[in-house]
Amino acid sequence: MILVTGGAGFIGSNYVLDWLETVGEPVLNLDKLTYAGNLANLKEIEGDDRHRFVRGDIGDSALVERLLARYRPRAVVNFAAESHVDRSIHGPEDFIQTNVVGTFRLLEALRVHWDTLAGEERDGFRFLQVSTDEVYGSLAVDEPPFVESRRYEPNSPYSASKAASDHLVRAYGQTYGLPVLTTNCSNNYGPYHFPEKLIPLVIHHALAGKPLPIYGDGRQVRDWLYVGDHCRAIRRVLEAGRLGETYNIGGWNEKTNLEVVEALCALLDELQPRSDGESYRSQITFVKDRPGHDRRYAIDAGKIERELGWRPAETFATGLRKTVKWYLDHAEWVADVTSGAYRDWTKMHYGQGGV
Ligand code: NAD
Ligand code: TYD
Repeated sequence: MILVTGGAGFIGSNYVLDWLETVGEPVLNLDKLTYAGNLANLKEIEGDDRHRFVRGDIGDSALVERLLARYRPRAVVNFAAESHVDRSIHGPEDFIQTNVVGTFRLLEALRVHWDTLAGEERDGFRFLQVSTDEVYGSLAVDEPPFVESRRYEPNSPYSASKAASDHLVRAYGQTYGLPVLTTNCSNNYGPYHFPEKLIPLVIHHALAGKPLPIYGDGRQVRDWLYVGDHCRAIRRVLEAGRLGETYNIGGWNEKTNLEVVEALCALLDELQPRSDGESYRSQITFVKDRPGHDRRYAIDAGKIERELGWRPAETFATGLRKTVKWYLDHAEWVADVTSGAYRDWTKMHYGQGGV
């Protein structure tokens, strides 16, 4: 089996669902169920014997050691993280604890476990660190997109904590020979995206008749990738990536935030028009900018294409349409998340805290 951490979050849950559908190998899913973890994301595999969920922290060394000894996963894919830039600005502590200390403890437990393995089990073992393009910092408009050799220049507590964890992963590969791989991906969008991030927030606010908040002038550029394409890329790197290497993953799809919000408004105008006949565009509101707001991210995903034959399957138009339709068809999921009802469910199953 494989061990997936953070598999109840946005990308992790998409990955678990995709993995069971395409590969079918059992998954041990270790997730702390922070505010961002939602077991409702995994509803369609409820009762599936191939999925084993454990509530716990990647920084809980005793727990991780027990899980490794008991399940002997052949690979670990590390999605577990605090992931929201705005939250990292208001409270960086959790980001250091999970992204830096948690990743360190996970690596340390893995190093000790891996040292006990022999033969094929040892040679075939893989640790894949799921990271972000934000570690590279901000690009000027005329600069070429990020390549893997670009120096790290993180600007937010979130990206700094991810950068630190990527460095630890590299060090465990170089120093101890742990078979590591790292992927740095651009902004994802798709089903089960927590509505604090731009795309699901705009869909939710538009339908609720609330303002669509655009930070600053809205001309910041992000590269957007459909989450299913990201999952496929991670599968490919896990399967055939060269040990110790980093692979950038992106959609070849740079958009300003304003373009993204306008595209969402146009899709919503078509698929669920406002009752007063006005466009959702009229809800766009410019608000105070995010401190230290990176101006532009762009990914050169040439290496993963050349070496591993991966390219995104979705365009922005097809991926965004799928995404908007998914949110329109899953109003209950959004209502449970925004009302906090999904937390009640977690409490009912697991109590107030602990594993
Ligand atoms: P998310 O916030 O939706 O999910 C994170 C998950 O990790 C949650 O289920 C949470 O409960 C869990 N978690 C948090 N702390 C934990 C801990 N200490 N131990 C165990 N589980 C813990 O995040 P996401 O958007 O799905 O991102 C997943 C990974 O992908 C992150 O590492 C992030 O840096 C990276 N990434 C995200 C994007 C993006 O656009 N969302 C892009 C590139 C890379
Ligand atoms: P976000 O989805 O938070 O991802 P990240 O900061 O990791 O790129 O934000 C994407 C972009 O959208 C970013 O430039 C900030 C901007 N943004 C807004 O303009 N308004 C919003 O309400 C949010 C959440 C983000």
